[in-house]
Amino acid sequence: MRLDRLLANSGLGTRSTVRDIVSRGSVQVNGAVVSDPSFHVKETDSIMIDGQEINLQTKLYFLLDKPDGVLTAMEDKRLPCVADYIPAELKSKKLSPVGRLDFHTSGLLIITNDGEFSHRLQSPRYEVPKVYLATFRGLDWTDEEIATVRSGFTIRDKGYSEQIAPAELKVVESSGGTGRALLTLHEGKTHEVRRIFAHFNKEVLELRRIELAGVKIEEGLDSCGTFRPLTEDELNKLFEATGLKSDSQKPC
Ligand code: URA
Repeated sequence: MRLDRLLANSGLGTRSTVRDIVSRGSVQVNGAVVSDPSFHVKETDSIMIDGQEINLQTKLYFLLDKPDGVLTAMEDKRLPCVADYIPAELKSKKLSPVGRLDFHTSGLLIITNDGEFSHRLQSPRYEVPKVYLATFRGLDWTDEEIATVRSGFTIRDKGYSEQIAPAELKVVESSGGTGRALLTLHEGKTHEVRRIFAHFNKEVLELRRIELAGVKIEEGLDSCGTFRPLTEDELNKLFEATGLKSDSQKPC
């Protein structure tokens, strides 16, 4: 890739800014000064600007604790959307959310520009576990209902049949027609948690995703709105769950 393009892609400025930096002789590639912006480099080359090694990280990985009442979209004319939580300096990085949470679901959403990583996290093939905390209204879950969820079942709520993969339901508390339960899914069908609860005549009043492939966030709502880079440990868990190697991919 051209040196100016690689530097611009790495967030060091616009193409014309980085061209100026290169032309004035401030850039070294593998120890030698390069003043030609079209010089061809690899991401594995060592690149220094004014004697400082620079990070050529082009793949970026973040976690957003999405608040309730926010669209999982990068643009919307009327409603708040996840892009509103992404700092201005990252706007050019082609970031997008991995999958989607409903407008009224809060919790863990990964934001990245790594297409393969995003694809694998969403693919049913990798069965990445996702844990949801649901506050519901309805009769207590019976052992039989929980066993049905555990073995998988067919839902017919949209005029056609859809198979729901085996999932794990654990009631956390239950009293007087309302309760809270944890549901672990290994797939991501549209509105799946709400539809599973509805199938058993229970209405989800609040929904929060609190875990993805072992990456956890707070159960409470205090951290809603937080946008931060994934830690190396968190990223390793996600790479492991999707069969990707993280050796060369450090969090930004
Ligand atoms: N299941 C739902 O019903 N809603 C979500 O936002 C995520 C999973």
